[in-house]
Amino acid sequence: MRIVLVGPPGAGKGTQAAYLAKNLAIPHISTGDLFRANISQGTPLGQKAQEYMRAGQLVPDEVTIGMAKDRMEQPDAANGFLLDGFPRNLAQAESLDEILKADDLRLDAVLDLEVPEDEVVKRIAGRRICRRDSSHVFHVIYNAPKTEGVCDACGGELYQRDDDHEDTVRDRLEVYHTQTEPIIDYYKAQGLVVTISALGPVAEVTERAMAALDRAN
Ligand code: AP5
Ligand code: ZN
Repeated sequence: MRIVLVGPPGAGKGTQAAYLAKNLAIPHISTGDLFRANISQGTPLGQKAQEYMRAGQLVPDEVTIGMAKDRMEQPDAANGFLLDGFPRNLAQAESLDEILKADDLRLDAVLDLEVPEDEVVKRIAGRRICRRDSSHVFHVIYNAPKTEGVCDACGGELYQRDDDHEDTVRDRLEVYHTQTEPIIDYYKAQGLVVTISALGPVAEVTERAMAALDRAN
């Protein structure tokens, strides 16, 4: 399956993607995680991305689309993938269609995670990420690690993301409404969107998501 996950910052895309990718046996491709890995390795791409991410703005399309395309062309993505954080504007959505069309492929579903804004703010404020692997995501209240500040999965140090501070979160939400939300209508016109509520315990949201993806196929 080829799936796009969409939803505001803090909706739980990364959290759900980890479970969904496992259930569906497809790789989880997060452009945010790819950028953070490049930043921590000090690559030129990471250096370009860093200032935009800190400001809560989108990294320019010419950097992002190439990076996402390279990742989708890896052998593990040959039979499908779960995209998290890409596409994030109409130009990226159109590029993705072209990339897939060139190989006679298309998306199977766009899973839209709905969460009220006050909940998103609470989720982001309490989020802690593992320094060794940014797909290890915790929350100080909702999903607390067994030992404070230490990753349950690998023992790495937990930290708060640079862009998880209150004013940047507001900018990210604004970017989501103005630039990312329009892709939902774009995909609705293709009949691809399934919307679920992302409120409630993580496992319940995963069940809801799996049921919605079943219905979409
Ligand atoms: P990215 O890393 O994609 O961030 P985001 O979209 O803002 O999403 P988040 O990672 O903030 O949230 P999430 O929905 O994954 O939530 P999570 O599962 O962590 O992008 C960061 C930046 O990179 C962008 O601002 C941009 O600069 C750049 N970028 C990335 N892609 C780009 C692109 N395509 N084009 C241009 N620029 C791009 O959950 C949040 C918290 O809630 C966690 O603490 C979690 O434990 C908790 N939680 C999750 N589910 C539940 C639940 N059911 N109940 C209670 N708590 C929960
Ligand atoms: Zn870890």
